[in-house]
Amino acid sequence: MRIDIISVVPSLLESPFSHSILKRAIQKGLVEVVLHNLHDYGFGGYKQVDDYPFGGGAGMVMMIEPIDRCLSALKAERNYDEIIYLTPDGERFTQKIANELSLKNNLILLCGHYKGVDERVREHLITREMSIGDYVLSGGELAAAVVADAVIRLIPGVLSDETSALTDSFQDNLLAPPVYTRPEEYKGWKVPEILLSGNHKAIEEWRWEQSLERTRQKRPDLLKNFW
Ligand code: ADE
Repeated sequence: MRIDIISVVPSLLESPFSHSILKRAIQKGLVEVVLHNLHDYGFGGYKQVDDYPFGGGAGMVMMIEPIDRCLSALKAERNYDEIIYLTPDGERFTQKIANELSLKNNLILLCGHYKGVDERVREHLITREMSIGDYVLSGGELAAAVVADAVIRLIPGVLSDETSALTDSFQDNLLAPPVYTRPEEYKGWKVPEILLSGNHKAIEEWRWEQSLERTRQKRPDLLKNFW
């Protein structure tokens, strides 16, 4: 998979892909993440990418032409499955969408800034709009990092234990069960006996019940989609 991320501050995105699981996924060649500075496609000496809104009002608007030039340069090289604009008024990003995107070959993530992009970008140049939650970030970069992270870890081979993504919270609309590690007892707080029993069938059943109970307690809304 290849993910191209277009931003006015691409340096914001260098760190998330330089550590841990995402770094290893890139090193193993399972994913390629390419950052693009929109200013490279801007106008004049200042490489301008934004301008005042028609009709007045506060804030600047990202111009369509630099975005179109950048997208055209990328699309001339390969086909893209989705061109996703990160915006708080987009479709809510979920584990289901992460699963769906992890099966794609080429994705573009376009990060918004200022007051957002000229509406014609949304009408004509992108295929999808995504929000990571009902709050406003100062730019789409952190949202793009969230989407890319959630997608990349689902690509087969990225997680060392192939099954571990399958047991994540939300993967089957249930929250994950509690986990424990050594020591068996700490300050009198004990690990549940069953996990030390070696009885794998009973452990699986316990985990399933815990998942169900945890979901009932913390996120009863998820159970509506489960049954
Ligand atoms: N840009 C600013 N806020 C955002 C959000 N919540 N989701 C996606 N992109 C954003």
